[in-house]
Amino acid sequence: MESSKESLLPEDHESDVSSSRLMQAVQYNGYGAGPSGLKHVKIPIPTVELYGILIKIEAATINPFDWKVQEGMLWPLFPGKFPHIPGNELTGEVVDVGTKVQNFKPGDKVVSRVSPYDGGAFSEYIVCSHTMTVKRPQEISAEQVAGLPIAGLTAHWGLTECAGLKLETSSPCTNILITAASGGVGHYAVQLAKLANCHVTATCGPSNVEMVKSLGADEVLDYTTEAGAALKSPSGKKYDVVLSCAPGIPSSSFDPHLSENGIVVDVTPHVNTMLSIALQKLSFSRKRLVPLLLSPKKENLEYLVDLVKEGKLKTVVDSKHSLSNVQEAWAKSIAGHAAGKIIVVP
Ligand SMILES: NC(=O)c1ccc[n+]([C@@H]2O[C@H](COP(=O)([O-])OP(=O)(O)OC[C@H]3O[C@@H](n4cnc5c(N)ncnc54)[C@H](OP(=O)(O)O)[C@@H]3O)[C@@H](O)[C@H]2O)c1
Repeated sequence: MESSKESLLPEDHESDVSSSRLMQAVQYNGYGAGPSGLKHVKIPIPTVELYGILIKIEAATINPFDWKVQEGMLWPLFPGKFPHIPGNELTGEVVDVGTKVQNFKPGDKVVSRVSPYDGGAFSEYIVCSHTMTVKRPQEISAEQVAGLPIAGLTAHWGLTECAGLKLETSSPCTNILITAASGGVGHYAVQLAKLANCHVTATCGPSNVEMVKSLGADEVLDYTTEAGAALKSPSGKKYDVVLSCAPGIPSSSFDPHLSENGIVVDVTPHVNTMLSIALQKLSFSRKRLVPLLLSPKKENLEYLVDLVKEGKLKTVVDSKHSLSNVQEAWAKSIAGHAAGKIIVVP
C-alpha cells in the first residue's frame, strides 16, 4: 500500500530535501584524540536509496570497538574514511524507506547494525540496510535492545558458532567460565549460557558480583582477589568452555582449569592468539583455542530480540548519556568498567 510508505520526516525537513534537512551528529577527524576529538556537527539528514531504511535513532550504544578505532588500533582497516561518525548499533523508528524495501514501513520500530567501516549511529538519523535491520516489538524499550547487534550477537556467536553450544535447556550440562561477565558481551553471555543449560562460573569486580549472580551465574569470582585471579572454579569443576571477554588474560592462564577437550573462545583475538593456536596444533593437544570472528546474521538478531520479548534476556544499563554529552560516555567506556551497556540517546 503506497500510503503506508509515506515518509514520517517533519514537514520542514521535507520542504527542501537538500538544504534544510539537517541533523545533529558527532564525528572525529583523525586518530588519537580520545573524547576531546569528538566534535558536534550539523550535517544533512541522509536520504534513502533503493534498499535503504531511514531511521530516527532512539538509542545507540558505545562498544570498545568504537574507541579502539579512534585510537588507530585497527588501522588501516577502520574507519572507512574521515570524518567518521562512530557507532555501529542502534534502535529507532523508521521514517522513510527506499522504493525496493518490502518489509519495513514508516512507523516501524527497528533494531539495526551498520557496517563498522561506515559507523554513523551517533547522530539523529541514519540510513541502514534492510539486510541487518529487524523489527522491535512496540512494547520493548529502546535501551533493552540497542546493545543486541554487537555485544548480544558477539555473546551468541561465541557460545554457538565458536563453542558449539545449543541454546536449549535440554542440552547436556556444560561447565563454562565467562570472564568480564559484567561487561557488555559478558552479561549477555551469562544469560545465554544459562539457556544452554550451562553451569556458569563468571568473573567480575567486587561491585558487580550481585548483578552477575542475578543474571544467573552459578559461581562468581571476584578478579581482584587472589582466588578470583587464579580463575579456578570454587566447586572444583573443570571448564569445558571458556568465553574469554576480559582484556589482557593470556589463553595459557585457562589451561590448568580446562577439561581434556576444553575450548577457549578468545573474544579479543590478536597476533598472540594466532601464535598460540599454531603452538597448540603442534603439541597435538585436544584443547582448542578459537578466535571469535563475528559474522553478524539477521536471523540471530531476530532471535535475540525475541528472547527479550519473552523476558529471557535483558540488557543491564550501565548509564544513559545524551548525544550532546557523548564525550562522557566515551571516556566511561575507555575506562573499562562499564556494568552492562552504555547507552547514547540523541
Ligand atoms: N571479536 C569481536 O567481534 C568482539 C565483539 C565485541 C566486543 N569485543 C571485545 O570484547 C571485549 C569485551 O567487550 P565488552 O563490550 O564486554 O567490554 P566492556 O563492556 O567495556 O567490559 C567492561 C567490563 O569488563 C570487566 N573487566 C575488566 N577487566 C576484567 C578482568 N580482568 N576480569 C573480569 N572482568 C573484567 C569490568 O569489570 P570491573 O568494572 O569490575 O573492572 C567491566 O564490567 C572488548 O575488548 C571488546 O573490544 C570483541
